[in-house]
Amino acid sequence: MDTSQQENPHFPIDFVPAERRIATLAEDVRAGLLSAPRWLPPKYFYDERGAWLFEGICEQPEYYPTRAETALLAANADAILQTTRPAHMLELGSGSSRKTLYLLDAAVRQAKPLTYWPFDVTVEMVRHATSDLVQRYPELQFHALIGDYTGGLGGVILPDEGPRLVVLLGGTIGNFEPDMAVQMVADIRDRLDVGDSFLIGFDRIKDTARLEAAYDDAVGYTAAFNKNVLNVLNRELDADFDPDAFMHRALYNADLSRVEMHLVARRGMTVTVGALNQHIKLHEGESINTEISRKFSPEGIDDLLASGGFETEYRFEDAASDYALVLARAV
Ligand code: SAH
Ligand code: AVI
Repeated sequence: MDTSQQENPHFPIDFVPAERRIATLAEDVRAGLLSAPRWLPPKYFYDERGAWLFEGICEQPEYYPTRAETALLAANADAILQTTRPAHMLELGSGSSRKTLYLLDAAVRQAKPLTYWPFDVTVEMVRHATSDLVQRYPELQFHALIGDYTGGLGGVILPDEGPRLVVLLGGTIGNFEPDMAVQMVADIRDRLDVGDSFLIGFDRIKDTARLEAAYDDAVGYTAAFNKNVLNVLNRELDADFDPDAFMHRALYNADLSRVEMHLVARRGMTVTVGALNQHIKLHEGESINTEISRKFSPEGIDDLLASGGFETEYRFEDAASDYALVLARAV
């Protein structure tokens, strides 16, 4: 295990080496921006400002997934902990860990002294969130992980003893194309034993107007979040994008059951990306696809989980079936 560990006064933080090779920002941007149609991977939204903007999105009235999932966790955390009895809980894309508090509270209520492993690509977010958790839950253990989970989970040291629970909230699995989502679920299954558990949130298919509003809130948090990826490229790759020269657009593609976020050029322009030694010509109305967010039917959920080696044990849903929180068992 060549995971490098950096001690911190309160809890260990590991930098997780990718098992599969993952492209660098420059390689990803070269592949995406120079292709037709143009695209960028969504993981680059989350610099410090992007992580903060995402938290703002979660509070907007149009963005129902956070509220729906929070209510499902509040109502079912005790049952989830009772059923899974985890010694280790690994959360992928843990962000602020705000919703996870319901699971940690239940662990404390049930006197279950688990170790929580938050895993996220945004260093400062994990450091900050985990420091708060350490103070809030003296009864529990914490071990933070920083890395890119698309590189596989082989580099994560997760002790063998005791039942494991892997958590992937927010509908994040929807941010991946179907083959990548299957690979992620299979990667998770590979790290588990038969009987271990997977708690995963899925946004459900619903009417287009609500879906598009959720990705285009009136205050403009989602637009700012979308455009922020251009600030990341300007800073990291010596590019000269003018974020104001782009419009935020969110469209529901019913054929593929997914919301697509785009940045659409308001005018023709040439953008220089210094680190790639490229001048990229965009014409007026040309769009860059910055994110997909797939929406699921109950059958789609069960099929995805089954293809990775899990069986759905419970599907918790709100009355309107806006959102599903699924507890699955490794088989
Ligand atoms: N789970 C939280 C946050 C979701 S936002 C919630 O449900 O509200 C997505 C989170 O995943 C962000 O914190 C982002 O930094 C992280 N993330 C995105 N791509 C990632 C990747 N490839 N590897 C690790 N973390 C990633
Ligand atoms: C993190 N992920 C599940 C969010 C989503 O809904 O796809 C990211 C997001 N993009 C725009 N708003 C929220």
